[in-house]
Amino acid sequence: MVTKYHMPVDVRFGAGCLKELADFLSAGDRVLLVTDPGLEAVGLVDRVRDVISPTGAECRLYDKVEPNPTADMVEAAMVEIRDYKPTKVVALGGGSSMDVGKVVAALCTNEGPLVDYQWNGKPFANAPLPLIAIPTTAGTGSEVTMCAVIVDRNCKKGINGPAMFPKAALVDAELMASLPLYLTATTGMDALSHAIESYVGLGANPITDAMAREAIRLIGGSLWGACANGQDRKARQDMALGSVLAGVAMDQAGLGLVHTVSSPLCTFFHMAHGEANAVLLKYCMRYNLIARPERYADIAGLLGVDTAGMSTWQAAEASVAAVERLLDETGVKVPLLSFGMKESDAELVADNLPGFMLCNNPRTMNKKQCVQFYLDILADQK
Ligand SMILES: [Fe+2]
Repeated sequence: MVTKYHMPVDVRFGAGCLKELADFLSAGDRVLLVTDPGLEAVGLVDRVRDVISPTGAECRLYDKVEPNPTADMVEAAMVEIRDYKPTKVVALGGGSSMDVGKVVAALCTNEGPLVDYQWNGKPFANAPLPLIAIPTTAGTGSEVTMCAVIVDRNCKKGINGPAMFPKAALVDAELMASLPLYLTATTGMDALSHAIESYVGLGANPITDAMAREAIRLIGGSLWGACANGQDRKARQDMALGSVLAGVAMDQAGLGLVHTVSSPLCTFFHMAHGEANAVLLKYCMRYNLIARPERYADIAGLLGVDTAGMSTWQAAEASVAAVERLLDETGVKVPLLSFGMKESDAELVADNLPGFMLCNNPRTMNKKQCVQFYLDILADQK
């Protein structure tokens, strides 16, 4: 079997690497800075502007990105920015800002509404504008992936393909120091779910395995520290690196059950992406255990469990307990009921899964199993 690996993003990693944004800009560039409203308040927008300004490039701010961005939101953004005629896009923030940045960069050079590309799979005829992605969370990995996820008609839909790769990713853990505890925990659990899904999925290969294993080790060893003290530089750096490695692994190997069953919880019950994945990860691991116990046994070891003397099955079960402990220690307790999901919603939710990621999951799940899966979670959380 042929293994393919393609990742053309120019990644700059390390404290202070934000200043390297200047390497990608020139006098005369019209930069569109895409972000969410919260980042201006904590001073991060000004830090980016301070790097852009000396290059002689212009900068226009678009700061209306919301969690789980929709196709309507993207179309409204295009109306607002088209006359500016940007030459480059800088996306600053979590996954939502980076995904909107990617799509806007593509729509600036291609005719037609987003839904043409989203639902019909129409390829972009022209190369998108160059996009420089600057993550402010250690979670999404979108800065190194060829996918943007936008919600349309209550369904998360990916816009995929090599054209969607950012030109560059500036991964500066200093920008993550002000991230609140809850977001640090939930986005960190999202990154861990990327690494675990890549490692147990059917698309795993030796290259993605190496990245996923290191990502699990780094995130498992640093998530507590980053939550205990957001100013812990070593923990923030390790989380940032773990998130990048997990992002590359998932882009090449594919995702699975966690991202499948979390999708309708975001669209119907407005859970944040990381929040939903954080809650579901341990249940999905438990469901998948019988498919690849040896891989879950590896995960236990990578998460710091001493598996010496354990059988493969005991070690595999210990990986679920280790993730549960991570959740407990970071304080992420999110009953689905608190978002309004009831037993009577299980059928609706199961009818609205983005099924393509299930193809990569090591264990199949039919609708009846899916309904029961959600019911079991609701019962467990009571
Ligand atoms: Fe994710």
